Amino acid sequence: MSTNAPNPVPGDEESTSNFPFVGWLRDVAPYIHSFREKTFVIAFAGELVKEIGLENLIEDIAMLHAMGMRIVLVHGIRPQIEEQLKLRKIKSKFGTSALNTYRITDAAALECVKEAAGELRLDIEAAFSRGLPNTPMAGSRISVISGNFITAMPVGVVDGVDYVHTGLVRKVDSTSITLSLDSNKIVLLSPLGFSPTGQAFNLAYEDVAASTAAALKADKLIFLSPYSGLRDADRELITELSLPQLQDYMTEHKDIESGLKGLLHISGKAVRSGVSRVHFLPCNQDGALLEELFTHDGIGMMLASSDIENLREANQDDVGGILQLTMPLEEEGILAARGQDVIERDIQRFSVIEHDRVLFGCAALFPFPNGVGELACLAVDADVQGSGDGERLLKRIEMRAKQENIKKLFVLTTRTEHWFLKRGFKRATVDDLPEERKQIYNWDRKSMVLTKDL
Ligand SMILES: CC(C)(COP(=O)(O)OP(=O)(O)OC[C@H]1O[C@@H](n2cnc3c(N)ncnc32)[C@H](O)[C@@H]1OP(=O)(O)O)[C@@H](O)C(=O)NCCC(=O)NCCS
Repeated sequence: MSTNAPNPVPGDEESTSNFPFVGWLRDVAPYIHSFREKTFVIAFAGELVKEIGLENLIEDIAMLHAMGMRIVLVHGIRPQIEEQLKLRKIKSKFGTSALNTYRITDAAALECVKEAAGELRLDIEAAFSRGLPNTPMAGSRISVISGNFITAMPVGVVDGVDYVHTGLVRKVDSTSITLSLDSNKIVLLSPLGFSPTGQAFNLAYEDVAASTAAALKADKLIFLSPYSGLRDADRELITELSLPQLQDYMTEHKDIESGLKGLLHISGKAVRSGVSRVHFLPCNQDGALLEELFTHDGIGMMLASSDIENLREANQDDVGGILQLTMPLEEEGILAARGQDVIERDIQRFSVIEHDRVLFGCAALFPFPNGVGELACLAVDADVQGSGDGERLLKRIEMRAKQENIKKLFVLTTRTEHWFLKRGFKRATVDDLPEERKQIYNWDRKSMVLTKDL
């Protein structure tokens, strides 16, 4: 799932330029404004290097940096360690704890870890140093800084298994990282940490990334890994979920693969520690990072803290609150009039957002034959407009629509056309409405018709 940033109008029909890229560049401008000065921890699995190579990812990150984003890059090295072990004819050894599978890093394996981390770090630094004319890196001049930012401690002996040089993050030197980010550097972290006794430890890159994001209270923690997210009962990717939803999912699904389970656990911890969003993207898809950040629907799954918790289906107790929200808008002619009895009758079609038990937003979904549904009564209290509640309500209605096998949404609006266009709706006509709806279309209001394929 994508971000809560402002949403561009894809292929804005109002652009007068013949060059599609002009419209496209204008479309992504709101994201660029909104991400400037924001801290992103971007972590990628060692598998990415094998699957799609470093080059394009580094170019994309260089571009994000040029747009003013503060970037900490964390890399994994699992396949690279395997390669080193193979070269030296050493067998990989693993132990499994309740939450994760850890490599047992003995002295010989630690040498392989150092070799793999050193080599990949140098490749990344080299990739950031490119700047040939006529390449995306021309004129980039990026300084990358790595260092002993991570203090580690040993995993120790678990269930009788000594993990030797396998470690966990104990502390992150967030002050030094912040100083480096302040001076416009990209911070590069390898999955290695050091103990106060001077020992090196092999760490999970997920642990390094999540602990760093938590220490920095990062705006985004982004994982490019073999796990692009969770699937619902229809095997569809879940695009967005809250912490409580994640907990429910994990309670209901005991068979989640151990690597993914560990990643989700660590991400949940990061969100609880103040990271605003965690994104899960596939590491085998070129451009996944840009697609997630700069398109409305994104490409992966997003985990957020609690705001979504306040979004729920309405019940009879909400009728008063919904009327309070909608009546002033009806008086202004922004929403079509609906009496109390109509709202009472249709209350199960509404979703609402509440903060501290006060309703701040509502929206309703009315199904029509042939997989068509109407989004109606979308309203957010004027005091909290602009904080993403309208967007969340729209997503909720889209989710309900999908659950009800609705393939196409339509909305009638007099003054909010552009808000919907930015969110993937397209202009349509009264003739595109279902017959039953066409018959009760109010020609005095002359509402615009917009549709969106789900
Ligand atoms: C439309 C509405 C639901 C949006 O709610 P919201 O919580 O403010 O929405 P979000 O926070 O997700 O989005 C805010 C963005 O939409 C923009 N926006 C708000 N109203 C808009 C409009 N009429 N046209 C175009 N953009 C609009 C805001 O400027 C803001 O943009 P920014 O983030 O770039 O600053 C709310 O403005 C509202 O209740 N309007 C009155 C009722 C209405 O028109 N309903 C739709 C008819 S069914």
